[in-house]
Amino acid sequence: MTPKDFIPIQEPKMISSGKVTWQSPSNIALVKYWGKKENQIPANPSISFTLNHCKSTTTLKFKKRKKTDDFAFNFFFEGKEKEDFKPKIEKFFERIESYCPYLKEYEFEIYSENSFPHSSGIASSASGMSAIALCLMSLEKELFPEIEEEYFNKKASFLARLGSGSASRSIAGGLVVWGTHENIEGSSDLFGEQFPYKVNKIFKNYQDTILLVDKGEKQVSSTVGHDLMHGHPFAAQRFQQAHDNLSKLVNVLESGDTSEFIKIVESEALSLHAMMMSSQPYFILMKPNTLEIINKIWVFRKETGIPVCFTLDAGANVHVLYPEDQKDNVLEFIKNELVVYCQNGQYICDQVGSGAKIL
Ligand code: PMV
Repeated sequence: MTPKDFIPIQEPKMISSGKVTWQSPSNIALVKYWGKKENQIPANPSISFTLNHCKSTTTLKFKKRKKTDDFAFNFFFEGKEKEDFKPKIEKFFERIESYCPYLKEYEFEIYSENSFPHSSGIASSASGMSAIALCLMSLEKELFPEIEEEYFNKKASFLARLGSGSASRSIAGGLVVWGTHENIEGSSDLFGEQFPYKVNKIFKNYQDTILLVDKGEKQVSSTVGHDLMHGHPFAAQRFQQAHDNLSKLVNVLESGDTSEFIKIVESEALSLHAMMMSSQPYFILMKPNTLEIINKIWVFRKETGIPVCFTLDAGANVHVLYPEDQKDNVLEFIKNELVVYCQNGQYICDQVGSGAKIL
């Protein structure tokens, strides 16, 4: 498919007003996206687990109006009008306008809320942007009723990607690949697609307990971080490493080999942060407690043989990943040994989920 395939060509129906609500999850990357080309095209492919509990619920109200040169929308976050979120949405609308030519013919009210605490350091852009993209696709489906489910989902992911790259992986459930990879059929730079091969039972309900180490504002936004991969001394090797790790992961996901899984996933997390530490300017998003937790996980794994590992986003929080049948052991370990490193003792228990839902 090409971007042109996402430009509507039929005559739209006349829809005067309506309302739709979508619930869309966050996701956690196993092979990380870090670095992009123009138009939100990723510099390397990535794969993530779709989460279940960390999600945004977004309602879009739309009313037909006389087209003007501007977008007309208001944004409410957790019940309150949020002026500071508007520029991000305005930019998103600008990026997607050529694919959604009806945008300026409507007046929108967008109401969004997150299931996870605001400013918990958990990126809400993936769930938030994918939820808005899905709401717009529901409007588009009313305008063009012939749209089929496959196209609906692909375009939702395509639009979400233009809001925030990782949001493209928040439409489908399970494991989602975004970015062209030679060994993964159907993989595309334009949208995320559900991982198309056999997945071992162990990974179907993998657990992710998110330890909230630092809830403060990130010192460096991911937009700036992605940009620093241009001219980065290790960029080419990093992008190749992501391709290679994804190739290896394809086999591991089928075999259920948790020790190989751990090697790939932890190396990806540390490579992501190594890129930040070796860019110019350089920066560090991990905190001392992030490292304390990582070391504790390594000791616990060595002592017990339990296949628990960590991954990191672009922040200090630690995602603890483990099989469902180890839930009791790992949660006890977390409570006894890791909670002390969390801000206000906070952590969120999540697991692999089934993707976005219309309400
Ligand atoms: O979607 P963005 O532009 O916020 O980038 C997120 C990148 C990471 O979370 C660090 C990695 C990933 O693949 O999700």
